[in-house]
Amino acid sequence: MLRMALVGCGGMAKSHAQRFAAVKGRVSIAAVVDTDLSRALAVAKHLDQPQVSTDYKTVLDGVDAVLLVLPHHLHHVVAKTCMEAGKHVLLEKPMANSESECLDLIATAKRMKRTLMIAYPMRYHPMVVKFKQLLDEKAYGQVFQVSIWTEQFTRYPADHWASSASTLGGGQLFSHGCHYIDLLLWMLGRPTQGCHVGTNFGTPWMELEGTSHIYLKFESGALGYHFGTWGARGTKLRYAIHAHCTGGMLEADFATGQIVLYRDRGTDVLPTECEIDHREFDAGKSTRTVLHDFGTGKHTDKEILHFVDCIEQGRQPDTNGESALAGLRVIWKLYEAERAGVVADLHELDGKPRRKGVVPAPVGAGTTNENLRI
Ligand SMILES: NC(=O)c1ccc[n+]([C@@H]2O[C@H](COP(=O)([O-])OP(=O)(O)OC[C@H]3O[C@@H](n4cnc5c(N)ncnc54)[C@H](O)[C@@H]3O)[C@@H](O)[C@H]2O)c1
Repeated sequence: MLRMALVGCGGMAKSHAQRFAAVKGRVSIAAVVDTDLSRALAVAKHLDQPQVSTDYKTVLDGVDAVLLVLPHHLHHVVAKTCMEAGKHVLLEKPMANSESECLDLIATAKRMKRTLMIAYPMRYHPMVVKFKQLLDEKAYGQVFQVSIWTEQFTRYPADHWASSASTLGGGQLFSHGCHYIDLLLWMLGRPTQGCHVGTNFGTPWMELEGTSHIYLKFESGALGYHFGTWGARGTKLRYAIHAHCTGGMLEADFATGQIVLYRDRGTDVLPTECEIDHREFDAGKSTRTVLHDFGTGKHTDKEILHFVDCIEQGRQPDTNGESALAGLRVIWKLYEAERAGVVADLHELDGKPRRKGVVPAPVGAGTTNENLRI
């Protein structure tokens, strides 16, 4: 039985505590910690008599692993201390607020032979996993554009750590968009160029951007887009992923938990995947086919299961330090390019040159009427 400590009992902790039901019998929460004792006690109430403390260092002797749900500026120091004490670490995103801190955590995990996993639950969500599988299998042709929308209202009090860019580590893009940059890289591969524009217009409580647009171009030639806002006072899409493929458009709809295929009449061949519902759409000009239904819910239990499997089997998590750093490097480079007013060159971001012969198109290329007529 893996004994774990839950460190940080704020807003996110309740949903973490719930997900442990999925690993009952394999994991016990032996300790809960928060510098605010009342928060630790409130979470402990839902668990099986864990040790309660205001200092995470006092519980380390009694556990094998920790789940860190802390303000971003504490991720590095606490994760490092825990790994050096011999504990496996499941660390909330973003890994840390600087590249050198991330590299230090990756090196510490290696040196101490501990599992370091970053909590990117979207990567383990069964609908997202299936969506990626459909893209990889080219079930509906070659993907050439993935768009991700995340529209929510998030406002922290002025004295909260998340209201300051230095403790948050950036703006909405860094704090929340990191999930979706991670997804775009996972789905589309290595990026070659990109742009970010952000604003705190509409979210004046944010020191940096509360609303962001990201455009990325990938080695394959495909494009990725993310629109994220913490200022939505209403929304239609809320959370959605659309992938345009050469055989139709796939949608992962978080509101229903369904994967849906949209095709124009001209390209309408019956789907090879199972069909849950197939009907006309857009006044008969196209069809809308529900391919899979995963139901609503966050499915975050899959993430903790993966962490435990990786520890037991001694393998690297899918969202390990290196993979999380790849996404953060893109974000830092995009911020830097935005400040300089240029398109970010992402060709050698990880020190590994991109495939030869793929040259980024000049900005504005491909937008003449002639080209659009293809
Ligand atoms: N995966 C997701 O979808 C998701 C969603 C929200 C937040 N998060 C992440 O969860 C983490 C925490 O966010 P939150 O919204 O819960 O923040 P929060 O401010 O609500 O909670 C942080 C908690 O940490 C406690 N704390 C501060 N210093 C501590 C220390 N040294 N030792 C122990 N406890 C300490 C605070 O008292 C507070 O209760 C962040 O990394 C955030 O990005 C993830």
